[in-house]
Amino acid sequence: MNHNRKVVVYIATSLDGYIATKEESVHWLDETETEGDNGFAAFYETIDTVIMGKKTYDWIMNQELEEFPYKGKSCYVYTNSTNAVDNEDVTFVQGEVSELIHQLQQQPGKDIWIVGGGELLHHYIKENLVDGYIITIAPIILGSGISLFKELESNINLKLEQVKRYAQFAELRFSKK
Ligand SMILES: NC(=O)c1ccc[n+]([C@@H]2O[C@H](COP(=O)([O-])OP(=O)(O)OC[C@H]3O[C@@H](n4cnc5c(N)ncnc54)[C@H](OP(=O)(O)O)[C@@H]3O)[C@@H](O)[C@H]2O)c1
Repeated sequence: MNHNRKVVVYIATSLDGYIATKEESVHWLDETETEGDNGFAAFYETIDTVIMGKKTYDWIMNQELEEFPYKGKSCYVYTNSTNAVDNEDVTFVQGEVSELIHQLQQQPGKDIWIVGGGELLHHYIKENLVDGYIITIAPIILGSGISLFKELESNINLKLEQVKRYAQFAELRFSKK
C-alpha cells in the first residue's frame, strides 16, 4: 500500500462544529473576512482525488457554477442510490469507504481529499482512516446545523501540527498519532 498517499479532511466549520446550517447554508463562511484564498490553492495542489457525500455533491450542483469545481481531479461521490449515473466529472460509489481508500492507496498519486459532509466523513473517522485534518474555524457560534463530527465509540488521538491565522479564520492542522 502507498502510505505516502494520505487521506486528508480539509473543511471549514463554525466554532461550535457545524459545517452548514440546517438549511444547508454556508453564507456565514462567505461573510467571514479571508486572507487571499486562505491557502486553498496550495492545499489543492497536494491532492488529485476528491471524495464527497451525495448531499455535498447536490449542494455543489445547486450553486449553478460555470463548471464543476473539481474538474481534472478524480471525483468520487458516495450514494446508496443505484440510479445515479456517472458523468465526465464524477464516479458514484457505494460500499465500505475503506475499500476505495485501499484501492486508491495501491496506486501512485497525490493525497486524497475527503470533502465532506459530516455524514460521509463519519465513516472515515470511525475507521480511523484519516491521516490529516485541516480544520478552518470561522468566528461564529451557529447553535445548530449539520455537524462536522458525530458520536464515536472510542477516542481518536491526534497530534497538533500547525496553527495558522487567515484574517478572521483560524486553521488547525492535526495528524494521526
Ligand atoms: N463547511 C464546509 O467546508 C463543508 C464541506 C462539505 C460539505 N458541507 C455541507 O455539508 C452539507 C452536507 O453534509 P451531510 O453530512 O448532510 O451529507 P453528506 O455527507 O455530504 O452526504 C450524505 C449522503 O451521502 C451518501 N452517503 C454517505 N455515506 C455513505 C456510504 N457509506 N455509502 C453510500 N452512501 C453514503 C448518502 O447519499 P444517498 O442519500 O444518496 O444514499 C447520504 O445521504 C451540505 O450542506 C454541504 O454544503 C460543508
